[in-house]
Amino acid sequence: MHRPEDAAPTFSIGTVPIYGDLILAPMAGYSDVPFRLLCREMGSALSYTPCIPDDALAARGHHHERLLDFREEERPVAIQLLAKEEERLVRAAQKALQRRPDILDLNLGCPARRVAGGGRGAALLCNPPLIGRLVSALVKVSAVPVTAKIRLGWDETSRNYLEVARILEESGVSAIAVHGRTRSQAFRGRADWEAIAEVKAAVRVPVFANGDVRTPEDIAAIRRVTGCDAVMIGRGAIGNPWIFQRRALDEVPFEERLAVMERHLRMMVDYYGERLGVILFRKYAVHYVRGLEGASALRPRLVTASAVSQVLEILRGWRADERSAGDGRGTSACAIGTEDDRDVYPTGEGD
Ligand SMILES: Cc1cc2nc3c(=O)[nH]c(=O)nc-3n(C[C@H](O)[C@H](O)[C@H](O)COP(=O)(O)O)c2cc1C
Repeated sequence: MHRPEDAAPTFSIGTVPIYGDLILAPMAGYSDVPFRLLCREMGSALSYTPCIPDDALAARGHHHERLLDFREEERPVAIQLLAKEEERLVRAAQKALQRRPDILDLNLGCPARRVAGGGRGAALLCNPPLIGRLVSALVKVSAVPVTAKIRLGWDETSRNYLEVARILEESGVSAIAVHGRTRSQAFRGRADWEAIAEVKAAVRVPVFANGDVRTPEDIAAIRRVTGCDAVMIGRGAIGNPWIFQRRALDEVPFEERLAVMERHLRMMVDYYGERLGVILFRKYAVHYVRGLEGASALRPRLVTASAVSQVLEILRGWRADERSAGDGRGTSACAIGTEDDRDVYPTGEGD
């Protein structure tokens, strides 16, 4: 994985060297161990767990085990915490640190009602002094660097991202990821990359620019506009892990798409077991086939498959159709359909 011994790191998060400038965003329900491993192989420079609420960490039992889980090959790994009180945050951090992550990250951007409504995630943006206290408490107990992920503010009238970024830096964070939207925007409108540029100019720690990066051109554009140290990619990586190789999905040959789909499926099954692995794989499968001829007919079959053999059969049949339809055109390029992909993108309402 992108850690060439003799190369200089692209930048560092505190003491942690980072090789590369593209990072898979934390995404509850998507950025699990298999998907993160796949994206790391493709070039994502860092793995984040999805956000883990303090109460899940405090609870007895094992339901948070999967959220905390990561593989050695993923390192560097950031465990993302969600809390609103210093004491609970520290307790959650101590539990998380037992897993020996490379970084602890604090979520200051989750817009979901059950999270922000309870005062965590993006709700903390309304209380910058509390953010300072939480981060200071975290830095004090953490042997590894602490980072934070923010939105621009609660709503249009309270875009306090510069104040928050400065407080974060003063309190000791080693990097800041900025999703260029407010909480009230959720996932609507365009991410404001200019605002991210302001954050980059205001702090010395590395800044990761995030929001609406779907293509290699977007990567170049967000870098140009923001001057960020790294680009964080969420929805644009679902069904297109090749984005971490700076490749557009429609440049990925049909055979390669199918091969990676199959590999992702096998990784899911190895991790979750066949039944759950296949069920969870379906939500990625519908994205992998974006833009391909015949995808709309295929999606309903993919989302009802319940065994590996069924998924493989669908893919094999498709491969055969493609071969017979493609005489002479080979398998070097995807056939681009005219489908509207908006219906299959996750909204992130639940993050
Ligand atoms: C399904 C989903 C789940 C998400 N879960 C998290 C999360 O657990 N923690 C977090 O900081 N952000 C979460 N996000 C927000 C993303 O990390 C990212 O900031 C956002 O999607 C904007 O980037 P994008 O346009 O590249 O998707 C989630 C987003 C989506 C779509």
